[in-house]
Order: sequence, then structure tokens, then C-alpha cells
Amino acid sequence: SEEEVVNITYVLRDGTEKKIRGKVGDNVMFLAHRYDIEMEGACEASLACSTCHVYVENGFIDKLPEPLEEEDDMLDMAPALKDNSRLGCQIVLSKELDGIRVVLPTMTRNFYVDGHVPKPH
Ligand code: FES
Repeated sequence: SEEEVVNITYVLRDGTEKKIRGKVGDNVMFLAHRYDIEMEGACEASLACSTCHVYVENGFIDKLPEPLEEEDDMLDMAPALKDNSRLGCQIVLSKELDGIRVVLPTMTRNFYVDGHVPKPH
């Protein structure tokens, strides 16, 4: 129902914006994959990579629960870390996050290391 809708904007690596109607409980990384958005997720949300790194814009960073220690550890390994960096697979949509905007960094660790970006599945 409308009650459950959470609007989210993904800003792709080329700057294109993709607006998606997600719903309460959706995981930002798996939601991206459902819409063929090129967010990586090498470890399938098990907090063992940093390839799902995103920047959370518009002050929404303050509305997210504090990261787990494991998330912080992984973020430390992400290239181009910023104050509003989070792991996409650790963000779960709630009504409070309606209007959230996440930006994909131009570089993730896989890209950095291997020189290519694996296709999302
Ligand atoms: Fe690996 Fe998010 S997919 S930490």
C-alpha cells in the first residue's frame, strides 16, 4: 500500500538519477540490484567487503541507525571515504527515510584493485 512506499533516489556513477519506489523493509543494495542499478555487493550483505559503499545525502545520514563495528571496519577499507559514507547493504528502508538519496562512488575497492566493475546480478 501507499503507507509502505519509501521513495529513494540513486545517483549513478555517471551522475544519472534513478528514482525508485521502494517499500518499508527493503535493503538498499538488494533493491538496487532488482532495478539493475550498478551497485556492487560482492559479499551479499555479510559485511565482508566494501563494494556496496554509498554516500547518503540530504541529511539522511543522521536518520540512519549507527553503523555496527563491522560496518565501520569495512568502510575504513573503502576508497574515497567521506563523513556520509555507509554500506548500502546495511541500509534498510523505513518510513522515516522517505526521500533518501544515495550516491554511488566513482570507485569501489574491486574497481580499484581489478580495474573493472563486476556486473550486478
Ligand atoms: Fe559486502 Fe555490503 S555487500 S558489505
